[in-house]
Amino acid sequence: LPIAVLVSGGGSNLQSIIDTIEEGVLDAEIKLVVSNRARAFGLERARNHGIPTLVLSHKDYRTREDFDRAMVKAIHDHGVSAPHGAVVMAGFMRIVTHELLAAFPDRVLNIHPALLPSFPGVHGQGDAADYGVKISGCTVHFVDEEMDHGPVIIQAAVPCNAGEDGDELGPRILKLEHRVFPQAINWLAQDRLEIQGRHVHLKVAGI
Ligand code: GRF
Repeated sequence: LPIAVLVSGGGSNLQSIIDTIEEGVLDAEIKLVVSNRARAFGLERARNHGIPTLVLSHKDYRTREDFDRAMVKAIHDHGVSAPHGAVVMAGFMRIVTHELLAAFPDRVLNIHPALLPSFPGVHGQGDAADYGVKISGCTVHFVDEEMDHGPVIIQAAVPCNAGEDGDELGPRILKLEHRVFPQAINWLAQDRLEIQGRHVHLKVAGI
């Protein structure tokens, strides 16, 4: 599965994808890592593994659509396109538009550090901790035009302890992210995900 990975920050999810590929467990190839921030450590992780990188600063584009068009062009230029290629948002802190989604229909994945539809947005871990829920977790989903909203592929749960804040809960959720995101991408690589409305069915392997 040829993929482009979009990052904005530390890139630990990117690292888990790289490692799973190198272990021979995930049947994907990262053709390009795009960051909207030049200082994102994810870029360095990519370079360390010889993966092409690109910085596209959203500040250089007038609209989200202009930014996405430039990103799609770069992704296409690196050999990732629909229907076979996919785009993986791994801590990419930008809302994407129709420009990206139309170029990759049902081929864009995102990971969110909460059990959607609870606690969407940029502070999923902290919002869940502050709310006082007893269970939170992470969600991998197909991306649609609403933020943190598309059909759910996989979720994993962690218990929350009373009095904890997002800084304490976050790392435990992140650990789970590193397990479920490569799993979800592998299912896509194996062509095992079937979307029916809001429901994602996992087809049996080999059929
Ligand atoms: C993760 O918690 C992800 O769910 C969220 O941003 C964080 C990114 O972490 N969207 P990293 O850059 O992969 O380390």
